[in-house]
This record gives sequence, structure tokens and C-alpha cells, in this order.
Amino acid sequence: MPPFVQSFALQVRYPVYFTRGVFHAESRDLREALGPAAAGHKHRILAVLDSGLARARPQLAADLATYVRAHGEALELVAEPLVIAGGEAGKNDPAVTQRLLKTLHDHGMDRHACVLAVGGGALLDVAGYAAAITHRGVRCVRVPTTVLAQADSGVGVKNGVNAFGKKNFWGTFTPPHAVLVDAQLLDTLEPRDRVAGMAEAVKVAAVRDGEFFAWLEAHAGALRGFEPAAVEQLVRQSAELHLAHIASSGDPFEQGSARPLDFGHWAAHKLENMTDYRLRHGEAVAIGMALDALYSARVGLCSASVVERLIALLRGLGFALFDVALLRREGARPAVLDGLQDFREHLGGELTVTLLEDIGRGREVHSLDHALVERVIEELKARSAQ
Ligand SMILES: NC(=O)c1ccc[n+]([C@@H]2O[C@H](COP(=O)([O-])OP(=O)(O)OC[C@H]3O[C@@H](n4cnc5c(N)ncnc54)[C@H](O)[C@@H]3O)[C@@H](O)[C@H]2O)c1
Ligand SMILES: [Zn+2]
Repeated sequence: MPPFVQSFALQVRYPVYFTRGVFHAESRDLREALGPAAAGHKHRILAVLDSGLARARPQLAADLATYVRAHGEALELVAEPLVIAGGEAGKNDPAVTQRLLKTLHDHGMDRHACVLAVGGGALLDVAGYAAAITHRGVRCVRVPTTVLAQADSGVGVKNGVNAFGKKNFWGTFTPPHAVLVDAQLLDTLEPRDRVAGMAEAVKVAAVRDGEFFAWLEAHAGALRGFEPAAVEQLVRQSAELHLAHIASSGDPFEQGSARPLDFGHWAAHKLENMTDYRLRHGEAVAIGMALDALYSARVGLCSASVVERLIALLRGLGFALFDVALLRREGARPAVLDGLQDFREHLGGELTVTLLEDIGRGREVHSLDHALVERVIEELKARSAQ
């Protein structure tokens, strides 16, 4: 007898607002994103704030309280905002996740309640994970506050924490309830984080959209100067390309063996880990892209001019394209090469790495020549000295 085959389709919908001043009392976006409250009920909100953000914006908790009071007919805070470690420290420390889960428990957060996660990509990953596994899914509204989180991670469907030394080892695919991208919140970013997040925009342009890449080249000066209009446009175009990919790739939850947008990421994840997260994700991605682009040219996939454009853009934005961790060895070979195995294991199946064929076009390959990677590392080192 053939098996009964269960089958149903899920329609996923969530709004992404590109806006300003989400916590100004007159803004309707957050209120609208939560939808109408059931008769006689209010939306119960637990805000989770990134500690780096909270330090840089001491007014934020008060602004949020004022906002909720102004919309008091429909919204209520279940408690004072929970401030948790921003940055990779929060994803690395199981006590942070535990504290979040305990707070959700203590306040009786159910599936109709809402975690309001406000912070960088790391904070959104931890808070999203805690919300996703509580009651198998408490709503999560994300307010990304770094360039990276606004341009990439915050608008997507993944969350996760690091465990056993592996990045994103625990996590889920859980679409957010809504995303509010507020350009004003980027004002307080450290110079380093302003630059770092732009790597994901360069990445998606390099493998998907030559016109956007040319726009980035033309506006590199304005972006480096963090001019608001240019940054807003970078964020918006990058976010839209990531959103379009999730909606149209046919593999929103990455069940295949490929991550076609993860150009430069096999080395990046390893470098983050090898440097104990001294390198930011975006900084490591920039190095990983330079490495994979040079490799692509050496194997004849793309022309030298493609690589030079990529490298010039990354440098123009302010990225360093070499780190001493690249020189670390594991036995006879560069330790970073272990990143290939980790990358394969994260997805399972056949190793699939996206290289560069042209500006705007990636190309998947299933193996890399280790000796050639080593030569490319030497080249990156030599170029960094120039
Ligand atoms: N889920 C996904 O799909 C996905 C995709 C890409 C990256 N990521 C993850 O995102 C993380 C990186 O995120 P990131 O680049 O946003 O860095 P981050 O979250 O580590 O934040 C960087 C620093 O900025 C601080 N900060 C955040 N917002 C601020 C603000 N407005 N003003 C001042 N300081 C602020 C944080 O406290 C932190 O110290 C990595 O863990 C990466 O793995 C996830
Ligand atoms: Zn990334």
C-alpha cells in the first residue's frame, strides 16, 4: 500500500515598514503592525532591548513606555523592558537565552502576546529564538537597529544562538510577525558597525544585482560618510533583495544544500569563530568575499576586473580585507579551511559554495582547491601590506 501523503501549503505574510521614529507617540506603525486587539483585550508586549543600544540611547525605554501609554487602548507592557547583552556575547551565552525564556514564562507570555525585539542582528537572533520555542511560537515584532540587521538579517526568517562552539547551532526558521526598519535608530551606531553591516548589501549586489552594485560604487563616498539618504537607500535595496530571494527562491527555509546569497560566508563564519568574535559578522563577510572573489578569478570563473571592482568597493567603504587569523594553521593547512566542513554540515548534503561569475551573478561550486585557497590568502596578505 502506498503511504497516505499529508500535504498542505502555508502562506507566510509579514509587513516590513521602512520608516522613521517608530517610538514617537504619533507614529502608528507599531500599533498597526500588531493589528486589532481582541475585544476587551490589549496586545501584551514584552520589550527586549540590546544592551549596546540601550547604553547609546538611554531614553529608549522611556520613549517606549510613552508610546505604549499613548496607544493604551490597544497596547500594554507586561514589564519593564528586559535589557540583554547585545552583540555575539548574547548569542554565545546560554544564560542569556535562559533568562529570556524565564522572563517569558514569568509573565505568562502566550502565543497572542508579543516579544518586541529591538537591537542588532545578534539580539534579534536570540530574542527571536526564545520567542519561537516558547509555546512553539510567541509572536515576535522586530525592530532592527544596525545596518546589518536592517539590510539583511532582521527582515528574514531565521533566528538562532551559538552552541558547542558552532555558530547558529540552535535556531529555527520562524517568520517575524512584523518588522519595523527605523532609519533614525542607526544614528548612534559606532563607526565600526556603520561600516560592517554594509558588507551584506555588497554581497547581495555582487551575486544578484549589478545595477545596485554600480549604485554602491557611485555612492561609496556618501556611504562611508554615513550620509542618511545614501544609507537609507542601501538598507532598503538590500532588504528588498533579501526579501525577494526568500519569497521567490523556492527554498525559503533552506532545505536544499545551497545558500545562494551566502557569498563569502564559509570563511566568514569560521573567521568569526577563530577570532572569538573579535571580527564582526560583516567584517568577516568582507574578507570572505575578497577571498572567494580572488579564488573565482584564479579558477577562471570571473575576470580580474570583476575582482578589482569588488575589492575597490569594499576598501572604499572602509573594510580591511585581511586578518591575521587567516594565517593560523591546522596541521599543514590554513585553519580557516575547516570552515568548508562546518558550512557543509550546517546545511547537510553536498558542499555548495557561491562564487562570483560576474558583478551581479553568483555561481555555485561543490569543492574548492585547498592549495589555491592558500595562495589566495597569501595574495590578500600581500595586498593588505600595500
Ligand atoms: N538570522 C539571520 O538571518 C542572520 C543573517 C545575517 C547575520 N545574522 C547575525 O547577525 C549578527 C550580527 O549582527 P549585527 O551586525 O547587527 O551586529 P550585533 O548585533 O553584534 O551588534 C553590533 C553592536 O552594536 C550594538 N548596537 C546595536 N544597535 C545599536 C545602535 N542603534 N546604536 C548603538 N549600538 C548599537 C550592539 O549592542 C553590539 O554591540 C551575527 O550574529 C550574525 O550571525 C543573522
Ligand atoms: Zn551574513
